[in-house]
Amino acid sequence: MITNKTALLAVLLVASVAPCLAANPANGQRLYNMHCAACHGPRGEGVHPEAPKFRMGERLEQPDLVLMQSVKTGKKTMPPFFGVLQDPQILDILAYVRTLR
Ligand code: HEC
Repeated sequence: MITNKTALLAVLLVASVAPCLAANPANGQRLYNMHCAACHGPRGEGVHPEAPKFRMGERLEQPDLVLMQSVKTGKKTMPPFFGVLQDPQILDILAYVRTLR
C-alpha cells in the first residue's frame, strides 16, 4: 500500500529532479502562444505563408539543438529570439511544439 508519506516523498522527489532533466511543455505552451502562434498558428497549422506547419511535422525531423539555434538567430522572416527567450524556455517551447503533431 502506498502511504501518504510515500506519496509525498515521491512528489517532492519528482518536483526537485524534473526541472533539471526534462523540458516543461506546459510552460512551453504558454510561451508559444505568446511569441510564436501568430506565425506558426495556435495548433501549429501555420498562419504566416512561409512558416513551417508543425502540426504536419514540418522541420521537426531536426534535433532540438538545431531548431533552437534557428529560433535564437532567426530565419528568413522569423525574427531572432536571442535575448528574448532563454535556452530552457526555447526547449520548453520545442517540447510543446512536438506535441502538436
Ligand atoms: C514573424 C513570424 C514568425 C514568428 C513570430 C516565429 N516564427 Fe518560426 N518561422 C517563421 C518562418 C517564416 C520560418 C521558416 C524559415 C525558413 O524558411 O527557413 C520559421 C521557422 C521556424 C522553425 C524551423 C527552423 C529550421 O531550422 O528549420 C522553428 C523551429 C521555428 N520557426 C520556431 C519558432 C518558435 C519557437 C517561435 C516563437 C519563439 C517562432 N518560430 C516564431 C516565422 C515565424
